[in-house]
Amino acid sequence: MPAISVSAPGKIILCGEHAVVYQQPAIAIPVQQVASTTKIFAHPTAPKGQVWVKADAIQVEGVLESLNENHPIRNAVELVKKLFSIDHLPACEIRITSTIPIASGLGSSASTAVSLISVLSEFIDHSLSTAEISELAYEVEKLHHGNPSGIDNAVIAYNRPVFFRRGEPLEFLEIASPLHLIIANTGIHASTIEAVTGVRGRWQNDLTKYNALFKKIGEISEQVRQYLSSGDVSHIGQLLSLNHSYLQEMGVSCPELDALVSESLNVGALGAKLSGGGLGGNMIALVNPGESSRINNALLHAGAKSTIEMTLPANREVKK
Ligand code: PMV
Repeated sequence: MPAISVSAPGKIILCGEHAVVYQQPAIAIPVQQVASTTKIFAHPTAPKGQVWVKADAIQVEGVLESLNENHPIRNAVELVKKLFSIDHLPACEIRITSTIPIASGLGSSASTAVSLISVLSEFIDHSLSTAEISELAYEVEKLHHGNPSGIDNAVIAYNRPVFFRRGEPLEFLEIASPLHLIIANTGIHASTIEAVTGVRGRWQNDLTKYNALFKKIGEISEQVRQYLSSGDVSHIGQLLSLNHSYLQEMGVSCPELDALVSESLNVGALGAKLSGGGLGGNMIALVNPGESSRINNALLHAGAKSTIEMTLPANREVKK
């Protein structure tokens, strides 16, 4: 029986992480070099309603009911069933694979939720809009990440660069000049919830300092949006580095991230910062295209466990 299959990309946050939890704007872009893929194979001869799940990367193999009730895969299936008032899925196997490193700020959990929800709706012949897929993935994220801003599910479901502010309509970005980026992994698994909880505690202890930092980061996102639409890449670089210094002040960087940021600037990057929750995971460097492979090698030499070179292409879409 042929499978149906849906893939969803990874993502990076270009600027605005953490501040975005506090209603400031942030910018995120999809990363096509990594992806989650969910396949569903119909099992017409299996017992009615039996759903077998296999996700090697997170050591899952068994019937859906064997997963903890709060497991994100089980949650996603239950949410789709509830939305369409379905008691049982037709017997099937759900197989999830992913090349997105987990706990690294590249959107692994949101991508899996998006690919799973999309393929499930196809499997049961009910269509979902991109907005609905994003919304359901947000529900899954909320159950597992406490108080996520919603930027991860949005950028991944729409698979477009987004300017995101909590509670406001999503804006798709106009990009006048391509951005050449290197994503470098410290190899340190970092918990977003731990980073977000840490910031919350420090914010509660020093509202003035943290509100000012969030506001300055929000202003960076506004400026980066302008420079993306005017194609002023070198100003974007400076703003990314400034954003990193504010994230350091917020206590979400770590020596390994700082070392990779410093190294990329030393060898000629236009700007660099951690990306995502921090405390490990990935950093990004904005580079001139002719210098990408040299800076990439320097980052690997400086201790990056893996890197991705990517180009965000220019577009001329009208702002929505
Ligand atoms: O999922 P991560 O590690 O890329 O981090 C998400 C970004 C935060 O702003 C730190 C949290 C959020 O919910 O937006």
